[in-house]
Amino acid sequence: MANITFRNPCGRGSAAITVEIAAGTSILDAAEQCGARVGHACGGNLACSTCHVYVEDGLDSLGPVSDKENDIMDKAFDVRPESRLGCQAQVADHDIEVEISDESLKSWLDEHPELRTAAR
Ligand code: FES
Repeated sequence: MANITFRNPCGRGSAAITVEIAAGTSILDAAEQCGARVGHACGGNLACSTCHVYVEDGLDSLGPVSDKENDIMDKAFDVRPESRLGCQAQVADHDIEVEISDESLKSWLDEHPELRTAAR
């Protein structure tokens, strides 16, 4: 088991959320469990970059980046050394801290238009 902390689960200024997950759980699945707003326009099928997150702590505890993940990351905005695709990055047994990218937060709102007005 490990903990994932989402520093900005509902956007800038939102209170952090920590969720305990089993080893092998993806960051996207962890977000779904706790309500953190990680977009996933392609449904986790490695065909978009809307699940783009920044792993601010614990990056070394994730599995390696595949060539395909790297290719898809080329489509993302504001890519940093700590960038990962949430649907691909699986947590081992160490805690990590994640910041959701603006791109991903926007995508989540696009996927949930009924909450867009309330979220502003
Ligand atoms: S949800 Fe599309 S690549 Fe992760």
